[in-house]
Amino acid sequence: MKGKFITFEGCEGAGKSKQIKLLREYLQRNNIKYVLTREPGGAVLSEKIREILLSSDNAEITPVTEALLFAAARAQHVNDVIKPSLEQGVLVLCDRFIDSSLAYQGVANGLGFDYVEQINNRAIDGCYPDATIFLKITPEEAFSRKGGADLNDRIEQSGMDFHKKVYSGYLTASKVYTDRFLPIDCSGTVMETHNKIINALKDKGILP
Ligand code: TYD
Repeated sequence: MKGKFITFEGCEGAGKSKQIKLLREYLQRNNIKYVLTREPGGAVLSEKIREILLSSDNAEITPVTEALLFAAARAQHVNDVIKPSLEQGVLVLCDRFIDSSLAYQGVANGLGFDYVEQINNRAIDGCYPDATIFLKITPEEAFSRKGGADLNDRIEQSGMDFHKKVYSGYLTASKVYTDRFLPIDCSGTVMETHNKIINALKDKGILP
């Protein structure tokens, strides 16, 4: 039996890590076998590419180089970790996936949604998520909750205009991929958001 593939997406500071932690705990309590992974990274070679992508030493990276490296890391991650786990019937939980590239590289960096979709289609080789949890909170609200950008991360330093474009990229992706996108309003408490996620996954038949 094929496992289900769930991805988590959202702007910086949306509370992704907290929600992933709560979903893990839910899966553990309910004896659902899962693998938790992340992007960029998640496989040996992909983690090496992650270091290049997130290092503040590589400020000269061009938008195309960056998009291709994200896609390259993803191709290896799909091949080495995601597909084998799904084939074994294990549920895969992935912190960011293709929609991060569509929003960050395609829309915010201006490469174009279609171009980034094309290179990623090749990279993921049909391995689209069954459900994409999109933590729907504007960057203004997310940043004020988080208390400012993380200065050690090159991408987080890009400024509010960039993050607004990221958010609009996610909105575009949510309209293109209505079948798998689960936009979650996260204006309430952490536990309210968690319960919305569980209910959305149950409604979609991903969780029993
Ligand atoms: P990370 O430290 O994992 O942050 P987060 O907690 O926000 O997930 O850094 C990942 C950064 O890489 C984040 O700023 C989003 C960016 N990113 C892209 O630009 N494109 C992509 O395809 C992916 C997967 C991530």
